[in-house]
Amino acid sequence: MLKKLSMAALAALSLSAGGALAAGDAGHIHDVDFSFEGPFGKFDQNQLQRGLQVYTEVCSACHGMRYVPLRTLADEGGPHLPEDQVRAYAAQFDIYDAELDEDRPRKPTDHFPESGLESAPDLSLMAKARAGFSGPYGTGINQLVKGMGGPEYIASILTGYTGEEKEEAGTTFYENTAFPGGWIAMAPPLYGEDVEYADGHSTSLHHEAEDVSAFLMWAAEPKMMARKQAGLTGVLFLVVLSTLLYLTNKKLWAPIKGKKLDL
Ligand code: HEC
Repeated sequence: MLKKLSMAALAALSLSAGGALAAGDAGHIHDVDFSFEGPFGKFDQNQLQRGLQVYTEVCSACHGMRYVPLRTLADEGGPHLPEDQVRAYAAQFDIYDAELDEDRPRKPTDHFPESGLESAPDLSLMAKARAGFSGPYGTGINQLVKGMGGPEYIASILTGYTGEEKEEAGTTFYENTAFPGGWIAMAPPLYGEDVEYADGHSTSLHHEAEDVSAFLMWAAEPKMMARKQAGLTGVLFLVVLSTLLYLTNKKLWAPIKGKKLDL
């Protein structure tokens, strides 16, 4: 299934890349100041919940997230939905149960469904699979400063449509300033005001795009906050250890260094 999916995606890609690679157009990605960036960055729980809503109401019509367990929606540091809401959310998707030999509603222990549209790639790891920033000249300095840019890439795709379309080999392609090659086989999924947020947050195209991109970043790396925490603890530990070693070193050498050598 995965093979078939990626083959289809590849086919779509190479099709769309056809005229484009020649043009050498890498696509334009705009930087976004996400809450989870930087050493102290955290996912914004409200933003993740809004992103989940956009994913559910819009993207999930075509894209699946087959590697993400539904129960993680209750995780602290993630969308942090109450258990009963997670159960209700899971139950709206059916899954074939081999033991029962019939479909049953999903449980929190099941995963999100697979892509419904074969040519639409699975989004579980998309935010980690794409890099928005690179260079200059292969040095990677841009990634050091702005991050890998996976979520920025997704947000830029969603807001990068120019409105132009063309038909090639029976497929419609839409001009997109962020997609490598400039023509993507996904019709613009968001226009702004596509959903209604319970928290009253703006549903302009840019906000919806950023919310769903943040949500997809969480889906691809749900333990990002734990990782940053562990990194900080490690650095703090090394600072304390270095200080102690420095003081020990000074003390050990004090009697010798204080003396003048009698030659
Ligand atoms: C009508 C079906 C459909 C909907 C709805 C849809 N997509 Fe897509 N999407 C596609 C298809 C088809 C492709 C493959 C396009 C290609 O490779 O040219 C795609 C590709 C993508 C890609 C990959 C681009 C790449 O670099 O390969 C991303 C990211 C993406 N979609 C995100 C989203 C998000 C986020 C939403 C919801 C806001 C969404 N899509 C809604 C059909 C859809």
